Amino acid sequence: MSPDKFIVEKAKSAVAALFSADLPDSSFQVQVTRKEFEGDYTLVVFPLLKTSKLSPEATGQAIGEWLKANTDQIAGYNTVKGFLNLSFSNSYWSGLFSSIASDSNFGQLPSTGKTIMVEFSSPNTNKPLHLGHIRNNLLGWSVSKLLEANGHKVMKVNLVNDRGIHICKSMLAWLKTGNGETPESSGKKGDHLVGDCYVAFNNIYKKEVDELTSGGMSKEDAEKNAPSMKEAQEMLLKWEQGDPEVVGLWKKMNSWVYDGFAKTYADLGISFDRTYYESQTYLLGKALVQKGLDMGIFEREADGSVWCDLTADGLDRKLLLRGDGTSVYITQDLGTAEQRFSEYSLDEHIYVVGNEQNYHFQVLKLILKKLGFTWADSIYHLSYGMVELPEGKMKSREGTVVDADDLLEKMYNTAKETSMELGKIDNMEPAEQDELFRTLSLGALKYFIIKVDPKKTMLFDPKESIDFNGNTGPFIQYTHARIKSILRKASEKGISASEVPSGVELSPKEVRLIKLLDMYPGKVAEGGLAHSPAVIANYAYDLAKEFNQYYHDTPVLKEENQKLLQCRLVLLSCVAKVLVKAMDILGIKLPERM
Ligand code: ARG
Repeated sequence: MSPDKFIVEKAKSAVAALFSADLPDSSFQVQVTRKEFEGDYTLVVFPLLKTSKLSPEATGQAIGEWLKANTDQIAGYNTVKGFLNLSFSNSYWSGLFSSIASDSNFGQLPSTGKTIMVEFSSPNTNKPLHLGHIRNNLLGWSVSKLLEANGHKVMKVNLVNDRGIHICKSMLAWLKTGNGETPESSGKKGDHLVGDCYVAFNNIYKKEVDELTSGGMSKEDAEKNAPSMKEAQEMLLKWEQGDPEVVGLWKKMNSWVYDGFAKTYADLGISFDRTYYESQTYLLGKALVQKGLDMGIFEREADGSVWCDLTADGLDRKLLLRGDGTSVYITQDLGTAEQRFSEYSLDEHIYVVGNEQNYHFQVLKLILKKLGFTWADSIYHLSYGMVELPEGKMKSREGTVVDADDLLEKMYNTAKETSMELGKIDNMEPAEQDELFRTLSLGALKYFIIKVDPKKTMLFDPKESIDFNGNTGPFIQYTHARIKSILRKASEKGISASEVPSGVELSPKEVRLIKLLDMYPGKVAEGGLAHSPAVIANYAYDLAKEFNQYYHDTPVLKEENQKLLQCRLVLLSCVAKVLVKAMDILGIKLPERM
């Protein structure tokens, strides 16, 4: 049992015995003892004064004395005003330590029976993934793992926007300027090839607009009347009519993009349980528009368009169906949400989408509520801020978007340089080195991004992220490799330890590590409630840091007392085990050596 729960339970017994009162758990507030006082945990006695009818000091004194006399676990106490500081006995810490050591599922909370869908990534198929998608993918993946650790069943889904004017633009440019180029013929990754076509389209388009405006046309008219834009719109119409040629090209180019995305996802170590395609879902929601009209919460205008008036809720009037009967972005989301909740009986649906869509998700939730869906409250928009590089903001029009594949390659090279400089891996096989560079580069990237609160705009600095010291992924990876190296050396000497030996006196530093290890399941719960894997990242860092301080002044392999040596080896294994579990939630592997 964790220390705070233990104190609550025993203090209840003390109050019952001393003051003949049966108080609820909520009357017992336990906190970690502040550094300047002696003790491990502190019971706040103010809420008990009505019952004890004694002064704060006398109440603390009485409970402390009772706990010391009636439990083996409380070894000492002192009172400071209304605070009863309690010190646990060595046997208590050994018991807690043993239970952590023997629990292979440590930190996995019991099953809740709840199903949560997490939608993330959701790219458009006209260009490759960029740095913003990386933050999205890492958040989506880690929050999914975190919710699994909280005992929920999680479904990870992707919604690929494979249809619309954007992909038609790429298709058109490919026909005009592509010269029949394919990923095979050019050696280009499919998503990059299609992305290049998109850029090519924009160049053609811009030229046309410039020509029209220099001929005296207004910018607005020129943008509408540029021939290439008209052609793209005609193409979209043909697509909607099922024109075999257009649909054929669409399928071909999208398949290139999917091959490209698949590679980037694999490189990032990310997968989905189901992928939805907008071409198959974009008509969903039209039935809900009718439902809203019937309920009188939507209104149809003279031109046939349908709107939902949200002004009374402090928002805008929202278009749901255009005059020509085609749907808009939100229409599809309304229908998709309904479909997903009914198909999977979801208890919660999380959408990992950038903060530029905060308004969209606010409106989505509100309209679903107005439509009478009680589950609308179970929608959560996990909104995140922009990522920037030291060189500045990303602007797609200026071509300063940081490509995901380029960044992964750059990270790999940086990890390689840093490891080579340290020179500790010279006797490693090339394949093992390659694997290590990959593990380190991903660890650096993932940790650096996930440790930041999702809501915050962040600066990603590749060099800083790969530092082996400081609050970085490689620092935690290095700590793990260090522990593994000690355990290997011990086993080479024929020493292995899996159980905590009895009768070992733990040092204060060991107790601190055990306390920190014991906090892990609570951090899983806290992070889960807040939808924040950053809680786990920062916990892992604290644990690694505390371990390094411990190891700095505690001999392990040189310890001559066999029991102490064994005890320390078990402690090292526990730290390694918890680091692996915590970092697994973040999608980060910990190397055995580095
Ligand atoms: N494809 C969209 C974009 O790139 C994001 C979709 C987010 N998901 C959703 N269900 N609306 O902006």
